[in-house]
Amino acid sequence: MKGNSQNPAPVYMDHAATTPLAPAVLEAMLPYFGASFGNASSVHHLGRVARGAIENSREKIAAHLHAKPEEIVFTSGATEANNLAFNFLSAGEHLATSSIEHKAVLEPIKTLESSGVQVTRLAPNPETGVLSTDDIAKSLGSSTRLVSVMYVNNETGAVTPLKEISALRDKHDFFLHTDAAQAAAWFPIDVNRLGVDMMSLSAHKMYGPKGIGILYVRDRVQLMPQIFGGSQERGRRGGTENVAAVIGMTAAMDLIANDRDAHASRVTKLRQELQTQLTAAVGDQLVVNTPANAAPHILNVAFKPIDGKPLDGEMLLLNMDLEGVYASAGSACTSGAITPSHVLLGLGVPASTARASLRLSLGRLTGEEDIKATVTCIHKVVKRMQAQRQYEG
Ligand SMILES: Cc1ncc(COP(=O)(O)O)c(C=O)c1O
Repeated sequence: MKGNSQNPAPVYMDHAATTPLAPAVLEAMLPYFGASFGNASSVHHLGRVARGAIENSREKIAAHLHAKPEEIVFTSGATEANNLAFNFLSAGEHLATSSIEHKAVLEPIKTLESSGVQVTRLAPNPETGVLSTDDIAKSLGSSTRLVSVMYVNNETGAVTPLKEISALRDKHDFFLHTDAAQAAAWFPIDVNRLGVDMMSLSAHKMYGPKGIGILYVRDRVQLMPQIFGGSQERGRRGGTENVAAVIGMTAAMDLIANDRDAHASRVTKLRQELQTQLTAAVGDQLVVNTPANAAPHILNVAFKPIDGKPLDGEMLLLNMDLEGVYASAGSACTSGAITPSHVLLGLGVPASTARASLRLSLGRLTGEEDIKATVTCIHKVVKRMQAQRQYEG
């Protein structure tokens, strides 16, 4: 981010929480807040303009994913898409998932479990941070209907081997759902190559607006709607469509498709540089929770206790905020809660270290100078906290 010598700009290291709206995306959306305000269900000209914009967007998004337009359901984001993806399971059926999913998967699954769906939650390999395909294979049985595993973990950046998991269907037939909210900005997505039946995406993780996402649903999956009302989205989601947001999501996907690989390799290098510089600055106290082959944008680190006393993670974030460096502890949706991240605990990180964790996430706003400023800030704040003995307890 750009500033000047008097007023250094804040350093935004929280792209996994959300990304800024790209100017081209805003521009594409504006007409739908103005003259093209029609309801896509109206039969007159303005309605037809809105309908045309939505269906054109559906086609473009489907093409990005190598899917069919009728397999795209617009939702309010990845949370709603995840909830919808589970809306076909009945009591007695089995679902396998991981213990490191986002709450937008963990919570609806808890509800299903209380209504009688059998759930297996698999922990990742603590060495690699990645879910083992063999463990999933062992969990499958004749009643397994669904495997739901995230593509990229939002806290560590670990990448799930979806293709390998989908190949397990040689022996067992099940539907495969993935929450790909953290993946789409970084990896080209071909639903057929990955072998997924359902995929949740969110526009605000890829320079689009908040409050819009999609669920890709392969036509062999028969979902129940979870929002009843009008017949929008082929009866799968009632409610007047948010035309501007749909246009924004499409523009965002077009934009990232333009230079995805070049952007991913630039950010991967910056992330590696961040890890190297941080390790040099902090030394043995630093624990790196992000696997080497993670998605480009996430570096999760934690600080070991000193003399048995853990560093106060909330205080660390607040101090960084005062210095103008914005990051997250664990996932953004749970920060503020003092409980250590379920993902880090699932990786076997001790609770005292997990509580002092930072998720630094990079993106289009990140340059070399942001890496330097982040390392300088963390080094300074941690030293100061050590000197002031700002530990928990
Ligand atoms: C992996 C993952 N899934 C789901 C979500 C929720 O997405 P949305 O904000 O679009 O509901 C997030 C955002 O934090 C995420 O990182």
